[in-house]
Amino acid sequence: MANFILSAFADEASQNIREQIAACKANGITHIELRALDGGRSINEIAPDEARQLKATLDEAGIGVSAIGSGYGKIEITDDFEPHFSAFQNTVEVAKILGTRNIRLFSFYFTRGESYAQYRGEVIRRLEAFCDYAALHGIRCCHENECGIYGDTAERCLDLHRALGEKLGGIFDPANFIHSGEQILPSYDLLEPYIDYMHVKDARFSDGVVTPAGEGDAQYTELLRRFDRKDGDRFLTLEPHLAVFEGLEQLEQHGGSTALLQGRTAYRYASNIEAFCAAADALHRQIRLVRGEPGMTHPHLQGRVAVVTGAGGVLCSGFAKDLAAQGAKVAILDLNAQAAQKVADEIAYLGGTAIAVSCNVLEPESLAAARQTILETFGTCDLLINGAGGNSPLGTTSKETLELSDLAEKAEGVKTFFDLDPKGIEFVFNLNFLGTLLTTQCFAKDMIGKDGVCILNVSSMNAYRPLTKIPAYSAAKAAVSNFTQFMAVHFADVGIRVNAIAPGFFATNQNQKLLFNEDGSLTPRSDKIISHTPLRRFGVPADLTGALLFLCDETYSAFITGVVLPVDGGFSAYSGV
Ligand SMILES: NC(=O)c1ccc[n+]([C@@H]2O[C@H](COP(=O)([O-])OP(=O)(O)OC[C@H]3O[C@@H](n4cnc5c(N)ncnc54)[C@H](O)[C@@H]3O)[C@@H](O)[C@H]2O)c1
Repeated sequence: MANFILSAFADEASQNIREQIAACKANGITHIELRALDGGRSINEIAPDEARQLKATLDEAGIGVSAIGSGYGKIEITDDFEPHFSAFQNTVEVAKILGTRNIRLFSFYFTRGESYAQYRGEVIRRLEAFCDYAALHGIRCCHENECGIYGDTAERCLDLHRALGEKLGGIFDPANFIHSGEQILPSYDLLEPYIDYMHVKDARFSDGVVTPAGEGDAQYTELLRRFDRKDGDRFLTLEPHLAVFEGLEQLEQHGGSTALLQGRTAYRYASNIEAFCAAADALHRQIRLVRGEPGMTHPHLQGRVAVVTGAGGVLCSGFAKDLAAQGAKVAILDLNAQAAQKVADEIAYLGGTAIAVSCNVLEPESLAAARQTILETFGTCDLLINGAGGNSPLGTTSKETLELSDLAEKAEGVKTFFDLDPKGIEFVFNLNFLGTLLTTQCFAKDMIGKDGVCILNVSSMNAYRPLTKIPAYSAAKAAVSNFTQFMAVHFADVGIRVNAIAPGFFATNQNQKLLFNEDGSLTPRSDKIISHTPLRRFGVPADLTGALLFLCDETYSAFITGVVLPVDGGFSAYSGV
């Protein structure tokens, strides 16, 4: 896990340094990326004495400098390099005085139709000159992708990093990649080894509008999750760009993002400070989505889309509530729309996020409609819990074993193996097995390529060894366990883990009468169950919470797939002797 350090281009709040500091402090930002000062002067222009004064002011306020936001490399590749390079030498001095190890730079504009191949060598020569000079002074140059420069696509950024290796740090600006038409997550995956800094800035593909992080097309939460996989200090640098602020045009003389902002009305704020605060709020929200609210035990599940079938029922409503308590957005799917709505309302009452979706897991059209509703409300599925299941009296014998007398002269109410109704067997098989298969067919495609996704099926004790009287339910749950292993193997290469929970005997409202006599004593079947359960009790829904969260949260179970985890008080371990 990374140690996130928050920084900002606070010149977007104000050019006055004291106001920049105040904006950072008011928004929980500890570092600053220095770029523009009073009157729109660039940090590159200041003399050593002024840099020393600036350092004293920042020290007094307890604000560090993460990098110099230099703008070097934002000239045409055909422009004269020498004056640019000598100005850079002053910036290195300034960086040393300000106590930062980093200078941001860019890889030269190609706006006059020059060929990338023709000038590739020159781009690398110039960047190497910057890097080598800076390194002599203990400073590192970090390249930021930007629209219209050599490094405007992930491929060409990769080319630069491969050519310059350790000399060049990497800054990932998702909004600038969107402006260059690049897909964000594949670009990040390509560049991940080289990225030290993450820009906090988002944008829309449709019209280029810059948005607060998480509101554009950068898939910012997932991007930040991936960035969080890197250990060590990692800067998250806010560059709101939500409203054109005084002086931006001078700083970005060649267009780039500024040109894209002109004339846009979305995400404009009444003042620069207001825009800065909105961007900072979005940053904090993104961090909470990745790291969780204080006290949350499974932050990795926060913001995930969980689809839980049978969630109007006893055990799966518990699953839905457990996931919602971890910040997941939960879709409550159930044949019983009222029961589903009740669970969704309870989750909402507790401050969670859920929708009830009426759905029959045995009908592909019903599943497809549910998927569409979920897509429109929450997005694609991350966690699929196949919980809808159960038994039917039509697939149940009345006695544990066959007695000869029942064949000769059957007493009233006796149902033998030979009386089992194939329709009943089919119903139970369909509900437990086919319902799991069809639901997975509907949702698993959307999970492919996403991080931290998994499927959790619900098996049962009777899958290990059949229970008496319920052959259809036992065989159907055995099929679910078997199918769990099949899917774990089948989906391994596309990144979906598949596991199952096998609950033991849970005392729920619906089996109250089977388990307990009117006076509260155990029925003979319950007696047998408890005497074969080493922990000497029935389960309660909360006993499943740990197993559910453990198997769903890849922080704990990334290397676990294909297991059927008994939660049974030891029932499956005990031979009865
Ligand atoms: N209760 C136990 O002791 C126990 C033990 C082991 C396994 N299980 C399994 O746990 C899961 C949940 O069991 P429960 O005890 O909470 O049962 P439950 O009856 O309380 O819940 C099952 C839910 O599934 C819904 N459902 C039924 N058919 C459906 C369909 N075609 N499409 C969509 N929804 C449908 C029902 O409306 C109900 O809300 C089931 O798979 C069950 O087999 C339960």
